[in-house]
Amino acid sequence: MKVRVQPEQILASMTYAEKLAQLQIVWRPDSAEAGDLARRGAGALFWPPSAKATNDLQRIAVEESRHGIPLLIGLDVVHGQFTIFPTPLAQAASFDPEVAAADARLSAKEARSSGVNWTFSPMIDVSRDPRWGRVVEGFGEDPFLNAVFGEAKIRGYQGNDLSSDTSIAACAKHFVGYSAAEGGRDYNTTDISVQRLHNVYLEPFRVAVAAGVASVMASFNAVSGVPMHANREMLTDVLKNQWGHGGIVVADAGGVGELVDHGVAADAADAGRMALSAGLDVEMGGSLLIDGEPIIREDLLESARLDDAVLRVLRLKQALGLFDNPYVDELAAATGPDEASLEAVRATAARCTVLLKNDSDVLPLKPRGQRVLVVGPYAESKDHLGAWVQYFASPTTTSIAESLAAALPESVVTTLPGATFFDSDPGLQAEAAAAAAEADLVIVAVGEPSDLSGEASSRSSLNLPGDQEQLIGAIAGSGTPFAVVLMTGRPLVVSEWIDRCPALLVAWHLGTEAGKAISDVLTGAVNPGGKLPMSFPRSVGQVPIYYNHESTGRPARTGGSLAHKRPDVGLTGPNNTDDYFKSKYLDLEMGPQFSFGYGLSYTSFELESSADQTLSVTLDELGAGTRLSFTTVVRNTGTRDGDEVVQLCISDLVASVTRPVRQLRGFTRVFVPAGEERRVSLSVGFDDLGFWTNDHRAGYVVEPGDFRVEIGNGLTSQYFSLTVTPSSP
Ligand code: GLC
Repeated sequence: MKVRVQPEQILASMTYAEKLAQLQIVWRPDSAEAGDLARRGAGALFWPPSAKATNDLQRIAVEESRHGIPLLIGLDVVHGQFTIFPTPLAQAASFDPEVAAADARLSAKEARSSGVNWTFSPMIDVSRDPRWGRVVEGFGEDPFLNAVFGEAKIRGYQGNDLSSDTSIAACAKHFVGYSAAEGGRDYNTTDISVQRLHNVYLEPFRVAVAAGVASVMASFNAVSGVPMHANREMLTDVLKNQWGHGGIVVADAGGVGELVDHGVAADAADAGRMALSAGLDVEMGGSLLIDGEPIIREDLLESARLDDAVLRVLRLKQALGLFDNPYVDELAAATGPDEASLEAVRATAARCTVLLKNDSDVLPLKPRGQRVLVVGPYAESKDHLGAWVQYFASPTTTSIAESLAAALPESVVTTLPGATFFDSDPGLQAEAAAAAAEADLVIVAVGEPSDLSGEASSRSSLNLPGDQEQLIGAIAGSGTPFAVVLMTGRPLVVSEWIDRCPALLVAWHLGTEAGKAISDVLTGAVNPGGKLPMSFPRSVGQVPIYYNHESTGRPARTGGSLAHKRPDVGLTGPNNTDDYFKSKYLDLEMGPQFSFGYGLSYTSFELESSADQTLSVTLDELGAGTRLSFTTVVRNTGTRDGDEVVQLCISDLVASVTRPVRQLRGFTRVFVPAGEERRVSLSVGFDDLGFWTNDHRAGYVVEPGDFRVEIGNGLTSQYFSLTVTPSSP
């Protein structure tokens, strides 16, 4: 019977150097070097790409190191290990958290079976600037949507028992505010108000900690001039003391050493001391020891803090069951998808597509025999995996063209490049336009290749790269009906061509079964039901543009015009001009091209909401848990079965600080057969009607007053008034 040694007992026998060795994760592709680190008592290593190599390292750690402590084995399993799911942003577009949960469950199973026991996912950075390439890794511009999807992934990865051979430790990242980088330029300075910090960026992490996330990753940026890797207020006061995070806080790669680049640490030793003292538990990418010797003087680190960090690491290993069994069954290790996982990822991928325009009857494609031309760099490309996949990921099985040809046996499906991703080739365009004139319909498959999004992939333009936009114009000029399928890691500016485009389907980067899933939607085998998790701007100059903005003191009702007549204030006075001196651009219409929460279907829906009588509630009742429910009847008035996403937003009409004009606080995706209706109920309670005040000590408050409750589907809405009355005296 193996004697179970408690973490506290191990800690008591560790030297200072051994404690520091447990507080780092190292990437060493050389197996001998990795083995040496394991022998010296390293706490964690990046996954050596196989179950056998992992077992070899675990065996060295357990049998050859002084304390026999097993290893955490980390990897970025962000939207799949071998079977690749749609990118997280695409998953958010499904407005179905089960899509994220399905990804996390299968990813955890594949990852754990091959030796990974810790993933650096989910990324829950609220993202409002599509120039930032990492918007692809999160769940869009809304805190609530990020919180719901982040929690779904955490529960999917961790399951009910971290020691299960289908569970891995999750990591909520990047804590906090990384996505607020000025200019959307990765790693750039952020400047975040206390109000935004608590009500936008922290909110998904608060929910993640409450859901029991095993780890949190510090972000590269500074908040109010204090880099997050040395930010004691956030890492310790908020994350650990206020929220009770009992797991570990891990650095981002090189984040500790970068305290020197931030200009707050003199050298690596100073940086390490600052980070550990601030509440970081595990360093990543640098080192706290050189040849086994600590770079930080022992007397400079508070021993209680050091021991707390080591205990957090040992307890996570205990929870993962690594002390009982650090090894995996090499014969059972996953190496790629099976039929069931391919079916799962194909179904989830189709749920992530968003139909933004369908003014003609091009879509869905008719099964009758037709001449179908597929053009664009994505006609035959299989680059659908998206950002943050590793070289061992299972590639996309079939291209869009191959999938369509298989799905439309009565039609003749031909393909032409028409354009490349980056270069300009008018000859390709001319060839495609000529072929289009001879076709019955054209599918223009264009977009961003995967490499244009993800880390270190900020763009100053949001237009399609290369001359893909010119290709769309050339196809439009052919007069043949066409539809655009847009693959992208971020919202793009489509204003140059959208008016000439009869149908637009956003297909993000949908993973291993992207081609089949896109074909399922184009042919109508699947009716698209997704909604935008991020606004599509009209112009890059409009960024940041997001739905949950504050009103400002001068909200505009109309867009601007360069051909405008500037009012003569002497004649009209400074305030007597209609909608002129308001917050707008002279050269843009109002609002984004396509809004958060918007998406069409091949059928049509009507929503009829009947608010419950009690549209007034006291603060006491809310505090006691009363929830106000809103029941809506969703009627499918078309001829196709389909999904609709019912969204509940609230607006706090008068508050002690400016509040968003509307905030998503509930949603559900519901299937409604053609001609039928379904009742949907969404509710709001105390946690939905308040906000975190600027005074940390006052925390979260719900203020009495009037609220507007909106029930809609991104196209039409119904509104209700809700009054919160003060507590009874
Ligand atoms: C990267 C990313 C982070 C990732 C880490 C480990 O720099 O910022 O999201 O988890 O390094 O790969």
